[in-house]
Amino acid sequence: MIPINAPQIGEEEIEAVVKVLKSGVLTNALGAGPMVEKFEGDFAKFVKAKHALAVNSGTAALHMAVVSAGIRRDDEVILPSFTFVATAETVVLAGAKPVFVDINPETYTISPEEIEKAITSKTKAVIAVDLYGAPADMKPIREIADKHELKIIEDAAQAHGAIYSGKPVGAYADITCWSFYASKNMTTGEGGMITTNDDELAETLRLIRCHGEKQKYMSTIIGHNYRMPEIEAAIGIVQLRRLPGFLAKRRENAERLTAKLCKAENLQLPREQPNCRNSWYLYTVRLKGASRAKRDAVVEQLKSKGIGAEVYYPWPIHLMPAYRRFRRLRLTETEKAAEQVFSLPIHPSVSAQQADFIGETLLSFL
Ligand SMILES: Cc1ncc(COP(=O)(O)O)c(C=O)c1O
Repeated sequence: MIPINAPQIGEEEIEAVVKVLKSGVLTNALGAGPMVEKFEGDFAKFVKAKHALAVNSGTAALHMAVVSAGIRRDDEVILPSFTFVATAETVVLAGAKPVFVDINPETYTISPEEIEKAITSKTKAVIAVDLYGAPADMKPIREIADKHELKIIEDAAQAHGAIYSGKPVGAYADITCWSFYASKNMTTGEGGMITTNDDELAETLRLIRCHGEKQKYMSTIIGHNYRMPEIEAAIGIVQLRRLPGFLAKRRENAERLTAKLCKAENLQLPREQPNCRNSWYLYTVRLKGASRAKRDAVVEQLKSKGIGAEVYYPWPIHLMPAYRRFRRLRLTETEKAAEQVFSLPIHPSVSAQQADFIGETLLSFL
């Protein structure tokens, strides 16, 4: 089976881990961890952010972002429903209400017009998601947020290396959250990063990451243990160095698939928007006009040929049992996309021949 994603771990990562284990310094809890510090510095430089804080998951990054943005009980946060559940889960954990809005059917990212329609006196923030590694349309979102004094959190968990309007994604947000989960463009096994240009937010985030402690055993705010271990940071340093190579291979595979699949009239292919570069975390196509059953059947056929096609995401969050109470309106484009999309493997271990095989096999089923 060609899996939908595969971690790219080599000798360098293994050596880096062994070195940390031999050093005996396993945590950055007391500020003694050189790996976490270096990883943060390297990542901040890569995304051109003033501050980067390594954490132990993308979900932790999102939770810290929501709390540090001052979102409290009964506040409203506008976000897409067509995303991984963590985007909404952290809003609910903070006691606030997720207000789900629809997406642009071409890019699958949150629709700026729909954001504006959903704003009330209780709205405190917007979360935009760079889904599949395609940047959300941040300029109009920034304008809306400024007009209504809202914070913007960008969920860039899938977008390491993506560019929006000439800058790494995150440039238009107040806080940006990244994931290094095993499937991501770069990984530390589990792990995450939070980036911001705001000194005050960075200070609050630093406190939240470590029990709200300004000094040892003296908490000034409510925090958590969201620290990244040294072993993970050591892997992250190597992965970040290798990321440009991973991105180039993903792009090459994406272009190969597009060259094959552009013949299929009933497929909507992923396209980079003007002024954007995708990180190509997922190559997601839409089977135009298909029912859920028809799409699922094509995915099963691909699997039977050894192609690990997957659906991201079969159920929008507002239709999940745990989140139905937050349902407002029908999200037509979101619900349609959840029925019609599926993703194909383009990760760096997919060879050119395999990419051609994936494209030709799919064409033969259409
Ligand atoms: C869009 C999105 N948001 C948030 C997350 C959560 O990240 P993590 O799995 O590192 O907690 C992920 C990844 O799994 C994701 O894809």
